[in-house]
Amino acid sequence: MLWIRTEKEIRYNSFEDQLLIREHDIDPDKKKVALRQISYGLYIVSSEHDKVIGADTVNWLSQASFDPPLIMVAIKADSNLHTATKGSGSFAVNILSSSQKDLAQDFFRPTSAEGSKLNGHSFRKETTGSPILEEVYAYAECKVVGEIALGDHTIFAGEVIEAEHIREDQPLEMTATGWYYGG
Ligand SMILES: Cc1cc2nc3c(=O)[nH]c(=O)nc-3n(C[C@H](O)[C@H](O)[C@H](O)COP(=O)(O)O)c2cc1C
Repeated sequence: MLWIRTEKEIRYNSFEDQLLIREHDIDPDKKKVALRQISYGLYIVSSEHDKVIGADTVNWLSQASFDPPLIMVAIKADSNLHTATKGSGSFAVNILSSSQKDLAQDFFRPTSAEGSKLNGHSFRKETTGSPILEEVYAYAECKVVGEIALGDHTIFAGEVIEAEHIREDQPLEMTATGWYYGG
């Protein structure tokens, strides 16, 4: 078959080729060090669906719109949290305080539920049914309104349908922990 490319296609393809070349030329160490300069907070994102409970400490999270109020979070594609978020269509953002590094650490491991405790910590359910940890000083509950599955994490966009600031405190920041997740 004869395939004749238009000038536009040739230009487009060569631009794509340039992008590919640039992508492959990235020095992985330089990329890692540069990306690790992005600053983050730490949160426990939780969700439950059909007996699958996921509650994981995450840092790839941000507000993404005022109106409607949106939060976006990148959730590991092969995690229970991912399964529960997709199934339930909702998630809760448990906002950690600067004194809750130990609490963050308890949610790096797979989630285990015993009675009204998750990984040893009491929780309750409010509007969405996603677990809200009793110890947190602020939280938001979100309804999933969009998702983008491109890499090893899926980006979920959630509309904030409930939010509480229970008491005064300071948020836990990634730089204060010495941990990295990114790069
Ligand atoms: C510092 C740190 C930050 C993390 N940030 C994220 C994140 O943004 N998104 C995510 O899905 N997992 C993140 N994780 C991984 C989760 O906390 C958790 O270990 C993992 O999702 C558990 O998966 P599992 O349910 O398959 O055991 C992070 C881990 C660490 C140590």
